[in-house]
Amino acid sequence: MRTISADVNSLLAHYQTQINERLEEFFDKKVEEASRISNYPREVVIGTKEYTLRGGKRLRPIFCILGYKCLTDHNLEAIIAASISLELMQSSLLVHDDIMDEDELRRGKKTFHIVYENLCERRFGKNKARRFGENIAIVAGDLLEAYGEEVLAKSSFKSDYVKRALATYAEIVKKVGYGQILDITAERKGSFSEDDILTIHKLKTASYTIEGPLHIGALLAGADEADLQILSAYGVPLGLAFQIQDDILGLFGSEEKMGKPVGSDVREGKKTLLILHALERCTEDEKELLTKALGNERVTVEEIDTVRAIVQRTGSLDYSKKLVAEMTDKAVQAIKISDFRTEAKDSLINIADFIGNREY
Ligand code: IPE
Ligand code: IPE
Ligand code: MG
Ligand code: MG
Repeated sequence: MRTISADVNSLLAHYQTQINERLEEFFDKKVEEASRISNYPREVVIGTKEYTLRGGKRLRPIFCILGYKCLTDHNLEAIIAASISLELMQSSLLVHDDIMDEDELRRGKKTFHIVYENLCERRFGKNKARRFGENIAIVAGDLLEAYGEEVLAKSSFKSDYVKRALATYAEIVKKVGYGQILDITAERKGSFSEDDILTIHKLKTASYTIEGPLHIGALLAGADEADLQILSAYGVPLGLAFQIQDDILGLFGSEEKMGKPVGSDVREGKKTLLILHALERCTEDEKELLTKALGNERVTVEEIDTVRAIVQRTGSLDYSKKLVAEMTDKAVQAIKISDFRTEAKDSLINIADFIGNREY
């Protein structure tokens, strides 16, 4: 594995600081807004602030800023302010995703619904505490989604640009919704193909992680259809690479670096490329072991180790790694030949390299 260049780390850190400052300011206003209602909403909004600011790479707002910078360098303050809408969307989607996936760890701490399950136990007792936690998390996710729209709707760009950006925001949320439906359903379905998986990745991840944020940024700079197409030619393959790498890290990565559970995809029975190719190339005995582990609520650490060994032995891990590298290269080529501004192009090329080699 290649090491990530110091350049990209300082590039990410540069934007992360500014994004975090904006998020902090935004949430303080929302806390104030909610406290005018009563202490319970106030407390939940404080919870959404803590959750959003506890970590995260901020890739989506960064892509939004870079999409904008592909076309112009004017008024950067305004695009940084608008970009946090994408991080608010991310928080909203993650809060809901963790309920659906029954995960307990996110960004190194308890998932939102677990925080509120625990709070319910302390404050109101154990009866239906999980339900309470999930209910609060569903609403918190909805709030975060509305916050994202609010930020974009109130941004200071030309109203025609804002209108197109908002329409894209809605498009992204819809795509993630369709992708999540397919993802959840695939966990129950017996047969699935590589195409099925890539379709899910495209909808559920690529749309909201890379392509969509780039489009929103570019639209706020007045992008035309041709600009958007180039950004898609970069964003879609890189988004697929991002999710395949995420699946690799979800099985072989470090829980500490990732800040989310390793092995939980197996417990959930998630259909990943790693699993698909392993199933296609393994022996009958191995197939039995894989099938026993997948979707098993009580899967053991040893069984997850066995899944890892089969995924490696069948060459499935290498296959996924190869795809990540190929798709990252494809993204880089698409942006290299564009006539976007050089600084933004260089940043996008560096970030592609980070995504193709990331460990968290
Ligand atoms: C996690 O996204 C969800 C996926 C699409 C795999 P990130 O890996 O970007 O999560 P944070 O924002 O850095 O925590
Ligand atoms: C998360 O999908 C993508 C979203 C739409 C939020 P996953 O369930 O695959 O991602 P992780 O592993 O929980 O981050
Ligand atoms: Mg999940
Ligand atoms: Mg999920």
